[in-house]
Amino acid sequence: MIPWQLLDSAQVPGENGDLLLYQRDGEFSIRVDGAELMNSRVHGSEDAMAELACARIVSLPCPRVLIGGLGMGYTLAAALNRLGTESRVVVAELVPAVVAWNRGPLAALAGRPLDDDRVAVRECDVAEILRAEQRAYDAILLDVDNGPRGLTRKGNDRLYTRTGLDAAFRALRPGGVFTLWSASPNRAFGRLLRVAGFAVDEERVRARGPRAGGYHTIWIARRVA
Ligand SMILES: C[S@@+](CC[C@H](N)C(=O)[O-])C[C@H]1O[C@@H](n2cnc3c(N)ncnc32)[C@H](O)[C@@H]1O
Repeated sequence: MIPWQLLDSAQVPGENGDLLLYQRDGEFSIRVDGAELMNSRVHGSEDAMAELACARIVSLPCPRVLIGGLGMGYTLAAALNRLGTESRVVVAELVPAVVAWNRGPLAALAGRPLDDDRVAVRECDVAEILRAEQRAYDAILLDVDNGPRGLTRKGNDRLYTRTGLDAAFRALRPGGVFTLWSASPNRAFGRLLRVAGFAVDEERVRARGPRAGGYHTIWIARRVA
């Protein structure tokens, strides 16, 4: 068995912990506090989240999309593949080193999506954008933890509260969709989305492409009015 090699580490803003980038042969892993946040070999459900969201907005003339966070760029690449030339995608990434990794050792994994002219990167907490912008996005794709609980940092818990969901609702244009990736189902979170005024679909998608791997959960929550 080839051992994992630590390539780099970076402090998570607002947290004592570090984000760690490991490599083993051609495989990469981003870890935090002993847990794997993202692995380069398993991204079927990250791709699926982008497809589920973008399928609902692709007919708009100039769709505007917010993705938080960047990870290894798979969700971003899948969104770009699904959207047209007039679309614009803002990627919010909390840890500046992740952006550097995506321009360096991770660049080829998802086909260098940061080089696409439709993409603007903001090195910040996605919550800042959600609080500041209103009726700005047709889709918001959130995958910053492993589900609706702060893992990258405790402060992310706020994103999944009623206050956090109200901010996401306001940041969407009417008819827009908010999607959240989760490693496991969570009935209480589905209920909270409905209480916040969203019309909610919940999909179970495979971790390793359409027919392989375990199941992950994607909520697709539409701002109806
Ligand atoms: C699970 S990875 C995302 C994987 C990504 N969907 C992909 O396809 O590769 C989570 C990413 O979100 C970032 N992140 C965590 N909290 C964040 C926040 N509050 N705002 C923006 N980015 C955040 C992490 O640094 C990490 O890069």
